[in-house]
Amino acid sequence: MPAGGMTMPELTMLEVRGLGIRFGGLDAVKDVSASLPAGKITAIIGPNGAGKSTFFNLISGFYQPTSGQIHFLGEDITRLKTHEVVGRGIARTFQTTTIYKELSVLENAMIGHRVRTRAGLLDALLRTGRERQDDQASRAGAMQALERVGLAGQAHRLAGALTQEGQKRVGIAMALSSDPKLLLLDEPAAGMNPEETVNLMGLIRELVAGGLTVALVEHKMSLVMGLADQILVLHHGQKIAEGTPQAVSRDPAVIEAYLGSHAHGGQMGQAAQAGEAGHA
Ligand SMILES: Nc1ncnc2c1ncn2[C@@H]1O[C@H](COP(=O)(O)OP(=O)(O)O)[C@@H](O)[C@H]1O
Ligand SMILES: [Mg+2]
Repeated sequence: MPAGGMTMPELTMLEVRGLGIRFGGLDAVKDVSASLPAGKITAIIGPNGAGKSTFFNLISGFYQPTSGQIHFLGEDITRLKTHEVVGRGIARTFQTTTIYKELSVLENAMIGHRVRTRAGLLDALLRTGRERQDDQASRAGAMQALERVGLAGQAHRLAGALTQEGQKRVGIAMALSSDPKLLLLDEPAAGMNPEETVNLMGLIRELVAGGLTVALVEHKMSLVMGLADQILVLHHGQKIAEGTPQAVSRDPAVIEAYLGSHAHGGQMGQAAQAGEAGHA
């Protein structure tokens, strides 16, 4: 292997080309092309309704695109189903946290593992024979995921008894339990106070240092500006800018999009200074 001095070409984790989906007459995502470099953090920002969650739904196979292609580590995954996408190594969290507060932290992570690795949610909850067979593997996968988010010591507590931050970590552990290469986080800091947000940023950095590639949708500009290697800006479903946080925050098209957005009531520069954007 090169003994220094040689630059390795940057590996692309995910590449989308001309990606689009229409709902009735609405282009929720339109003609979006982008590359997510391996081992980096890409933030997807844009006003409410810009198509950010839909973009994640397309990548993760929840929606089938009406146009375009999605390549993951060189493989065309455009038409794959959700569980097949998970099997390739893409996992996600949801904008609305969906943890089971009445179950233990470990059980939550185990459900994450089962849902993501083979059986459906119903199977996972009903504990079919196949589920019991999978129990050991699920437990091991779940414990590993809990270790990665710093919750191994709280595995047997009720998930609902954890702080907001702890519950967010459970949600991330559920996604990590399938041992993804690419993690999609939809508004991970929503509902968190500034201290919790800083802790979450630390966790995301640790995960990336451990080899994970991350894409995140986030309204809190302090998090986006402090964390992202690159930012994609969506507006009305289309990519209007991309680049480093510094470049994007100075981009006239981006400032215009935020100024024109009533939902956010402020431009990116202000949002970055204030620590977070207005959140509808
Ligand atoms: N399943 C759906 N059916 C119809 N319209 C949808 C659906 N999902 C999203 N949309 C529409 O697509 C647009 C983008 O939504 P979304 O991706 O949730 O925005 P964001 O996450 O950027 O706030 C919105 O106008 C939304 O109403
Ligand atoms: Mg959204």
